[in-house]
Amino acid sequence: MMKSITFCAFAAAACLLVFSGCGRSSGEGGDNEFVMITEASFPPYEFISGDKIIVIDVEICRRIAAELGKELVVQDAKFDSVIPSLVAGKADIAAAGITVTEDRKMSVDFSESYVISGIVIIVRKDDAEIKSGADLIGKRVGVQAGTTSDTYMVEQKQEPDRFDSPALAVAALKAGKVDVVVADVDPARVIASKDPDIRILDGMLSSEEFAVAVRKGDKVTLDAANKVIRELKASGEIDKIKAQYEAEADKLKGNE
Ligand code: ARG
Repeated sequence: MMKSITFCAFAAAACLLVFSGCGRSSGEGGDNEFVMITEASFPPYEFISGDKIIVIDVEICRRIAAELGKELVVQDAKFDSVIPSLVAGKADIAAAGITVTEDRKMSVDFSESYVISGIVIIVRKDDAEIKSGADLIGKRVGVQAGTTSDTYMVEQKQEPDRFDSPALAVAALKAGKVDVVVADVDPARVIASKDPDIRILDGMLSSEEFAVAVRKGDKVTLDAANKVIRELKASGEIDKIKAQYEAEADKLKGNE
């Protein structure tokens, strides 16, 4: 089920968004709409609390929409349907802390990257057994479905337990339903900073780069995205936006 959110006001620290019914197919939403598809339970990149959304990715896409002279509309979907929805023409851009992978490059075009990231291991505070990636063998590992944490486990020939968000995977960890969680480092830090029952192991299992995705061959959107991302990186603004939203995400409680 896809939710559509209309971008109606911008404030420096938080963007106010209004949920507006269901998603549009390509061409239906009016020529002036620029539809971003995301999965909004991934702080600090996208995060909803009440009617507020705390987001790095929306901030980037708002600028890309402006560059194209369009109005941004944000749609929220499950992560594993973000890229398929873009490919199916239900959105103009996908931005969801998406890691550039060779596999995904076969179905979409990626912009220049805007963040370097990676995945980490989250354990219960009192866990003395799991110390590194090697200790994941034979364990019940929770991941967000369709993410690089999911594919990492599959590549290790181990079927993970899949959840709709990193926070739900952590809730399962705390409830003893999984032994360990693998997730992107930034949302893991946001969640762990508010939860004394879990901790993140040192070291990352991967090195990844985030970029926004457009439909294959959509050069107009890709050029606008690259222009915006290049400017944000050159001015150092991307780091400021990230720090600002990390602080905002830290203030909020409950990441589901
Ligand atoms: N970086 C990871 C990936 O691309 C996870 C992204 C999850 N993003 C989200 N908005 N839930 O697979």
